[in-house]
Amino acid sequence: MDLKLAFIGFGVVGQGLAEILTRKKGTGDPHLTEFRAVAISDNVKGSIYNPEGLDLGKALEMIRTSGNLAGYDAPEKGWDAVRTIRESNADVILEATFTDIETAEPAMAHFRAALESGKHLATTNKGPTTLALREMIALAEANKVQFRYEGTVMAGTPVLNLAHRFLAGNEFARVRGIFNGTTNFILTRMETGMTYADALQEAQDLGYAEAVPDADVEGWDALAKVVILANAVMGANLRVADVDRTGITGITPENIQQATSEGKRWKLIGEIRREGGQVVGKVSPEKVDLTDPLASVGGATNAITFSTDLIQDVTVVGPGAGKIETGFALFSDLVEIHRSLH
Ligand code: HSE
Repeated sequence: MDLKLAFIGFGVVGQGLAEILTRKKGTGDPHLTEFRAVAISDNVKGSIYNPEGLDLGKALEMIRTSGNLAGYDAPEKGWDAVRTIRESNADVILEATFTDIETAEPAMAHFRAALESGKHLATTNKGPTTLALREMIALAEANKVQFRYEGTVMAGTPVLNLAHRFLAGNEFARVRGIFNGTTNFILTRMETGMTYADALQEAQDLGYAEAVPDADVEGWDALAKVVILANAVMGANLRVADVDRTGITGITPENIQQATSEGKRWKLIGEIRREGGQVVGKVSPEKVDLTDPLASVGGATNAITFSTDLIQDVTVVGPGAGKIETGFALFSDLVEIHRSLH
């Protein structure tokens, strides 16, 4: 049985998944026959719904040429996100609208509508997952549906699914990593003598940076991932205000040179650790020794080290942003949802 999909938000991430599904069609990959898009609802690009299925290649081409879906001939058009979630025949809602970690809206309303109407939910949105993860997990359980959010931390690099599935049985004393590509890119470029402003501009041009640069350089994006990890894999109930946060704006070229001369590197580190029965989180720049696996992670790449009780330290290095890379997170969640049902 194939799963019918509704895309809520069809920006970089939604299009990334659509490109994967289109590109892989006909490759014989058994997973590709498992999914069928029926709806796309995007505030800017428009909304199309065909209960029999949409041609994602055609939708992508239309966006490439005209910037929107106005020319797509579908039985139903113009449905807003909540109507698409509630009234379409989709089995899985893919929520990839913009992240707002202050209000979590409009994504929170989309999450609630999906879970309350008994639809599985896969998302890359850090808003509701940062502010209300426990509530969303409980809502999914009450409605007997799957809620997956792999792409909220390190894009499609397996982190949450890895912790939940393959590291199951371990206790994590500490989880620590480089969770923001933009700041790591800036720090790496500054080591070559580039100015902070030029490096930030380059990160923005390459599409890594959040719409508001403060979200990256002041550590908010890394903080969101620390909260998600603490609550998702360390059994905590941390809130944004519980996490100490310092960004990279205070790091000077002199600081960078000093670290180099000491055989160290500045990294914006997100860390969650158990301390006296409590779980505490922080985000701050650290001078990391070159013997630490995180020191060799350069550019926009992310990394995470799980300190476990059964198999010591496990480090995973991989992309933390990007169109296909984040679209793949949704794809891996879809595969997990399909597996759970069959
Ligand atoms: N702006 C983020 C980063 C994107 O630079 O890592 C992924 O959350």
